[in-house]
Amino acid sequence: MNKKVKILSTGHYVPPKVLTNFDLEKMVDTSDEWITTRTGIKERRIVEPNISSSDIAAEAARNCLNKVNIDINEIDTIIVATITPDMFFPSTACIVHKKLGGKNEPAAFDISAACSGFIYGLTLAEGLIRNGKSKNLLLIAADVLSKFTNWKDRNTCVLFGDGAGAMLLSATDDEEDAILSTYLGADGNYDELLYIPAGGSKMPATIETVEKSLHTIFMSGKEVFKVAVTKMVEAANKACELAGITTGQIDLLIPHQANLRIITAVGDRLGIPQDKVFVNVDKYGNMSAATVIVGLDQAISNGRVKKGSIVELVAFGGGFTWGATVIKL
Ligand code: UT7
Repeated sequence: MNKKVKILSTGHYVPPKVLTNFDLEKMVDTSDEWITTRTGIKERRIVEPNISSSDIAAEAARNCLNKVNIDINEIDTIIVATITPDMFFPSTACIVHKKLGGKNEPAAFDISAACSGFIYGLTLAEGLIRNGKSKNLLLIAADVLSKFTNWKDRNTCVLFGDGAGAMLLSATDDEEDAILSTYLGADGNYDELLYIPAGGSKMPATIETVEKSLHTIFMSGKEVFKVAVTKMVEAANKACELAGITTGQIDLLIPHQANLRIITAVGDRLGIPQDKVFVNVDKYGNMSAATVIVGLDQAISNGRVKKGSIVELVAFGGGFTWGATVIKL
């Protein structure tokens, strides 16, 4: 059994509330000028306090499924890539199944690969479809990092935004293959350069962990920056090699959107002209796992890519994890 994989639809959702750099100027010792020149970010979207990952994941999934008029009950597998699950269990994927009104009994589970989560999920999705375990698979990436941000820490609070994206993949015998390659990597030796120290089994919540803000993101920005550029370039090159193409054949590169300087450096080192490098970090900041799929859905919606386009997604995140995929729309 070696099925081909078809991308039937994509979708996304970002919450309506906009938090601008000028808003942040009133919250921490920062400036629009610093944030813009160091990161390229001008604004980001933030969920209301009563909204969780499953809410925005369900919105993105609805947007994706509605475009092709497919009902949740036709889906046999739901994967949610998130590092901000609603709770430890049940999985956010199960909660999304309920929120979408599912009455069928699909496989449903979450995966954790930080900002690389969508590409990790796509690799799993590809495997499940190719070997006949899944016919219609809904892959969602959703993160609400605003809930795990220390709003007093200017080093991190200016960087992240909330968002969700979805992709519907299906098995096909007769169509051209959509996934030309995927490539994943990780190095756990960098675990404490970008992480949330408390809240898991190592350091469950106590008054002390809350007082020390240990349930929020800690990042050593400069170190992360260097490895991010190196590993995204390596992964992007590797995925092209596996797909049997050169970077010159890519119609659009959609890199993880953590920092405009990283995005530009990755494009330059790959020899891809900047007009073929997707950027939305100015409007949304770093949406973690959701970033690359939101970018892809926007690029499709605004006609920047179309049927037949070759698109490469590349991401890097906490773990460290990284990954890249070459797809043909
Ligand atoms: O999604 C996972 C991947 N994440 C990333 O890839 C993030 C990678 N890192 C970065 O994007 C950058 O390292 C940052 C944007 C986080 C920081 O930029 P930087 O150019 O590396 O700045 P820095 O950390 O070296 O800080 C330079 C200065 C420091 O002041 P001193 O020590 O030189 O006096 C910081 O305290 O800028 C200061 N600073 C700020 N100033 C105003 C740090 N954050 C801010 C801020 N506003 N928000």
